[in-house]
Amino acid sequence: MPTVRSFVIPTVMKHGLGAIQTLADEAKALGIKRPLVVTDGGIVKAGLLDRATAPLKAANMGHAVFDKVAPNPPIATVDEGAEVYKSEKCDGVIGFGGGSAMDTAKAIGVVAANGGSILQYEWADPQPIKNRIPPTICVPTTAGTGSEVTLWSVITDTKRHIKFNVGGTPHIGAWVALIDPELALDLPAPVTAGTGMDALAHAIECYTCAYAQPLPDSVALNAMEYVGQWLRVAFAQGHNVEARYKMSMAAMLGALAYGTESAGAAHAMSQSAGGVHDVPHGALTARLLAPVMEYNYKGEPQKFARIAQALGEDIRGLSVWDAAEKAVEAVYRLTEDVEIPTLQQLGFKEEEIPMLADIAFKDPQTIGNPRDLTLNSYVQIYKRTFDQG
Ligand SMILES: [Fe+2]
Repeated sequence: MPTVRSFVIPTVMKHGLGAIQTLADEAKALGIKRPLVVTDGGIVKAGLLDRATAPLKAANMGHAVFDKVAPNPPIATVDEGAEVYKSEKCDGVIGFGGGSAMDTAKAIGVVAANGGSILQYEWADPQPIKNRIPPTICVPTTAGTGSEVTLWSVITDTKRHIKFNVGGTPHIGAWVALIDPELALDLPAPVTAGTGMDALAHAIECYTCAYAQPLPDSVALNAMEYVGQWLRVAFAQGHNVEARYKMSMAAMLGALAYGTESAGAAHAMSQSAGGVHDVPHGALTARLLAPVMEYNYKGEPQKFARIAQALGEDIRGLSVWDAAEKAVEAVYRLTEDVEIPTLQQLGFKEEEIPMLADIAFKDPQTIGNPRDLTLNSYVQIYKRTFDQG
């Protein structure tokens, strides 16, 4: 039997079309008078930032903007944002954007509440984060990362060429997650695809890992069903509101499950490899997911059979082994249907396999994977993934 486990989420989740309109009211309810809006240049360029600042202006709420977040945010960006938070005399944070913007917003909060540099708060036992982040609202503009409800922030250390985790404590959780699927209507198809597959990876990896427990399992299965039914539609019809709504729910549910018990080879690989080449986390995880499942299904055949069903596969009359294999096939097919780039297209080279396998093997998410892993297992999974190029 598993040891005693808990499921903690300190975040109030508010979602629905037009939810962004309530941003100023939510900020006021948290006692925020002057928020720092943390976002990235792409949001500004796309003209989306107004969607966050207009409700603040309408409510005469003064605010500062930090828009220097880039994908895979480095330590320096977080520390600079924390300086802006201080110099602008802010008393709350609004993370507005994809995973990088929300991770940076939460990380800025960690530094604002605990001092120093974000480097000091890399996850460790004992937990280095002692104080809760200031009132923070996370507003996702993609549907994948689910950072609005996770207890983690992933930061890149450009000197060590790794991404490290900050969090694992309710102290880093956003106070409010404001999820408005309308914000994703103009998301480009490749971003829809990569982020949506990331949500699926969160759901599958937490559902099958050694730390799985009934409550997140049920949440994860629901996320898989939404992705199976709606990702292709959101990819093909960006303005399909129902598809965007269901994918925003998939991201939130996947992250709710994943954020409390993350483990699995796909994220061990994508997170470590993401420190080597600066590529989108979603696309990289997506490309690795099916080959990892192909390796893993023997460890948890019943659960993989259930994944197949959640993804819409007809498993009636099949043995549990055949049904489990259907889950692998379904994810391979989905990966191609939403045109996820190959590892080669993402800029990786086969000569890098020994190095990539080595850093994946050292990643903490290796522990808890549903099938035992050796260094050579990672070499084989990488070879299989490159073969699809
Ligand atoms: Fe992820």
